[in-house]
This record gives sequence, C-alpha cells and structure tokens, in this order.
Amino acid sequence: MCGIVAYIGPRDAAPILLDGLRRLEYRGYDSAGIAVLQGGKIAVRRKAGKLANLVRAVQAHPVHGEVGIGHTRWATHGEPSDRNAHPHASSSGEIVVVHNGIVENFLELREELADEGVTFASDTDTEVIAQLIELYAGGGTPLFEAVRRAVGRLRGAHGIVVISAREPDRIVAARLGNAGGVTIGAGEGEMFVASDMPALLDHTRRMAFLESGQIALVTRTGYSVETLDGKPVESALQTVDWDATAAEKGNYPHFMLKEIHEQVRSLGDTMAGRVDFEQGEVFLPTLKIDSAAARRIRRVILTACGTASHAAMVGRILIERLARIPAEVDIASEFRYRDPILDDRTAVIAISQSGETADTLAAMEEAKRKGALLWSIVNVVGSQAMRMADGYLSMQTGPEIGVASTKAFTAPLVDLFLLGILLGRLRGTLPAAERRKRVAELRRLPGLVGECLAREASLAGPAAALKDVTHCLYLGRGSNMPIAYEGALKLKEISYIHAEAYPAGEMKHGPIALVDKSMPVIALAPRDPWYEKMLSQIEQTKARGGMVIAVCTDGDDRIPAKVDYAIPIPDVSWTLSPVLTIIPLQLLAYQVAVLRGCDVDQPRNLAKSVTVE
Ligand code: G6P
Repeated sequence: MCGIVAYIGPRDAAPILLDGLRRLEYRGYDSAGIAVLQGGKIAVRRKAGKLANLVRAVQAHPVHGEVGIGHTRWATHGEPSDRNAHPHASSSGEIVVVHNGIVENFLELREELADEGVTFASDTDTEVIAQLIELYAGGGTPLFEAVRRAVGRLRGAHGIVVISAREPDRIVAARLGNAGGVTIGAGEGEMFVASDMPALLDHTRRMAFLESGQIALVTRTGYSVETLDGKPVESALQTVDWDATAAEKGNYPHFMLKEIHEQVRSLGDTMAGRVDFEQGEVFLPTLKIDSAAARRIRRVILTACGTASHAAMVGRILIERLARIPAEVDIASEFRYRDPILDDRTAVIAISQSGETADTLAAMEEAKRKGALLWSIVNVVGSQAMRMADGYLSMQTGPEIGVASTKAFTAPLVDLFLLGILLGRLRGTLPAAERRKRVAELRRLPGLVGECLAREASLAGPAAALKDVTHCLYLGRGSNMPIAYEGALKLKEISYIHAEAYPAGEMKHGPIALVDKSMPVIALAPRDPWYEKMLSQIEQTKARGGMVIAVCTDGDDRIPAKVDYAIPIPDVSWTLSPVLTIIPLQLLAYQVAVLRGCDVDQPRNLAKSVTVE
C-alpha cells in the first residue's frame, strides 16, 4: 500500500524525500506528494500519476527546508487526483499528515468535524486525521498530545506521520494495527521515518520499528516512543543487513527481471548456514523447536495471501510427505473470519514476504489468540509477522521491489523444504538415508536455477504466441499444481491476460469445454510421479485443437513431439521441481508483458504490500 518517508536534520529535505519515494514507489503509484517546513510555513507539492509528475512539479516550484514528509499513494478513499494526493493539511495549513490505512469511521468523524464548522479540501479519509489533530491542538496543546488523541479516535489500522508549522523541531509518528510498518531510522544528527526499509537504506541501517498502539516523537537527535495510553516504551535501534544496492535495478530494464535472475544467489543465501549437506542435517534455530515440540504437532495450517499462498500450497505437500503431518492451506482473508478450530497441537505457518500484509497478520493474531504454535516465513526481518510469531524463518532474498513476486516465491519453497526435512527428522518420520539424499540434492538447486535462466532466449517463441491471446489455462498436478496457479498469477498480474489455473485432473470436469484453437494451455509436465497423467492431459488438449506450451524435463522426447512449444528444464526430484518449473513461467510472463508494452514493475491497480483488508 502507500509509501511514507519523513526527514528531520540539517540537509535540504525535498531531495531526500523524493529519493525515498522513488524507492517506495512500488508500494503504490497513483499519486505522490511532499510537504516541507519552509520559512515558518508548510509548503505542499502533490501530483496525480507517477512520481515523475511530482518531481517535475517540485522542479517547477522548488521547496527548501530541513523537515518534511512524503507519500506515494494507492487510492482507497477518493480517486487518484492532485487534490486527493497526500500530504493532507488541516484547514489552517499548519498541520500536515501522511497516512497509510483506512479510517473505518471516516464518515462519522467527517460529520462530527463538519458540525464544528470544518470544511474539507479532499475526498480522503486522511484529511479527517489532519482536521482532528488541528481540533485537538487548539489552546496550545502540544502536537504529540493532539496526535495521540486523534489516533485514539480512529478505527481501522494506520501508519501516520505528522508535522506542524507550530512545532518545527519534531515529527510525530504513530502506528495502530497492521496497516504496514512505521520504521524510524537514525543517522548522525538527522533522523528519518518511513513505511519501509528501502527508503532509508541509503542513509542508515540503524532502525527501530513501532508496534501497534505506539506513538513516537522524532527530533534531529533522537526519538522516544510511548504507548497511546502514555506508557514509555523501550524501542531499541536494530542494525539491518540489507544494502542499498540490492534495491537498485542495476543493468536490468526492470526490477522483476533482475529479481528473477537473483534467484541463483537468493536460494544459495536461503540455505547458507542452515544445511549440512554431508550429514543431511538442517538447522533452523529461529524456529525454536525441539523434538518433543515437533512430536506434539497434530496438524499444520499454512496461511498466506497471493503468491505466498502458492508457496504454502507447495509447503503443504512437502510437510505431509517429509514430516507426515496432516497439512492444510488457508487463504488468510478467509481463515481470519472463519472461527477456525485450533489448539496448542496445531502449528500455524504464515508466509509473507513483506511481513505486513493485513490479512496475514490478522490470521496470525487469530492463531495466537487460540493458542496455536505460530511460525512465520518472512523476507523483511523486523516485520510484524516475524515479531508476532513464536518462531520464524527468514527468506534471505534481500528487498523485492517488482510488484509481481518472484524471488520471494522460490525462497520460501526452500524454507518449507528445510522445515519438512527438520520436522521429519525430529518426528522420526523421514528415514536418514532418504533425508541425506534429499538434502544432497538441494546443494545443486541454485546451479539448476541458473541453467533454467540461461535458457531465457528460448522463451521468445512461446511469448510471441501468447502476446495477443485474451485467455489461457495453466495446468499442473502434484507438487506442480501450485506452480500452475503461480504461473497464471504472474501472467495476469503483469500482462493483464486472463489466465486460469487448474489441477490438471479437474480439466475433464468442466474447463476442457473451453479448449479450442484460441485457448492456449500451459502444462507443467516434468518427469515426476504425475508425468503420465499430464501426458494424457496434453493429448486430450491437442485432440481438441488447443495450442500447448509444456514445461518438461531435459531428455524427454515424448512431450516435445506432441506440443507446440516444449520448455525443458534440468532433471530434479519432484520435491524440488517447483523451484525450477516456476523459472520459465516467470520469464514467460515477463516477456509477454514486455511484448504487450505493459508496465512490468508497477502493474495497474496492484501494490506490493497490501496493508488494507
Ligand atoms: C500483494 C502483492 C503480491 C503478494 C501478496 C502477499 O498482492 O502484490 O505479490 O504475493 O501481496 O504479500 P506478502 O507480503 O504477504 O507475501
């Protein structure tokens, strides 16, 4: 969702804010704005559309000052327009707010403020926050107190950052619920606030993270944190190890392509220090699990949204097979409201690259409330999903900027494989010989991903064949059924082609009625236990005139003889094959989107972190 950045220090704030917004634009990109304290007043510049529009507006009408806030928006209340872009000012123009989240009682508060004589300059819920703070700041009440009081009136989940012309030496930031992070960054004689780490990495790696229900006072030289009801909080700085170059495009035309190519490294990093390839041992100390606890688990529920839910679908198969624990997958937005049946012998595993997806966090809260053992698999160290869990695994992929997730899909596949192996050993369900064999194969995985990437050029044919289609079907079975879902999601997200995924065995129960010359079928058919079934599925499609693009295994000559385009990948066992089969599907979606002239890194209507329901 929206990106927030704020600065207070000796430097000119505007370039720092604009640069921070550039690094956060993936979070939302329908409008952007900055507000800077300039000569005792607050100057606001806001523009609909991409950040480049705002940059031009600031060049045309520069602002100079040492304190400021910025925002890049993903619209909720009010269309994307100049007047609805953040920051939003109170009627006096002296209090200015940027906000991430939805004010659920916005209409009620707006009416209340209108009764007080307040008139509104935008359609947004955020302006209500600015006006409320103004109301409470009357009679000389300090900004910090006014913000605390205003935040106390809001329903919903929020990240809020405020500056005031009356108190130019401070920024006030607050977090309520799970509407994304509020991160404080400490520099030398300067301080930063942001919704997300990439905005700060150029300036500092020393960061503190607000929890829900906390409010911070940030000055040039430091910060203090309290709960909304006034109790001081010890919120220590942590050093994060992401580096700024990891959030740059380098020589790649798009972040997505860069991130697809990074998977060789990111998978290696995900295994680093966790695996003894000789002994077939796996070490996951951050999970905090021992043999007794592992043996107590009766059921595993994996919960997530979007791409992470497809990783969960693979994880379910791995955990059942390797650890012999019944496992289910639940979409987080459904799980949270279903009053799920959980107990302390259920392990709930939440997967979230951002660690701040509102539905996933709510699902985790539900699991915690009901006493389940709670683990998370996250990419962002320090995120709420990491901190809330009893134990966690980090993906170790570095920042992922492309909105369509790629490297943050394959890393949790490896994490879940390692988890399956570990649970299998701790529970005595995975024979040592099999464990050693499976772990040994893992060592080859980054290299095999590299081989898939090296064949990128061979996807030009299938990409051209898909360029002008309006619909297509993705089919898979077994451990590659989830890859059909993920492949279809990649294509629809970035090329806007309607792509539907099915477990291949379901074709005959309906979707086969759709197959004709205009319905391409993308089939996942590596040599695995489901190979023969996929082969007959391909036959049935071809018999109805459909075009078939198939991912198959090197050396297979049966599939290439039947299909229109064969995409071979190196041979690997079925437990790890999803990590390879997804690579050509990521590249295929990318190439199709480029051919169609789509905005690959910032597809329409989407956002990287979905911090609203
Ligand atoms: C958004 C993103 C997806 C992501 C999903 C879940 O929809 O566009 O790429 O898979 O959120 O995000 P999470 O951070 O929880 O993995």
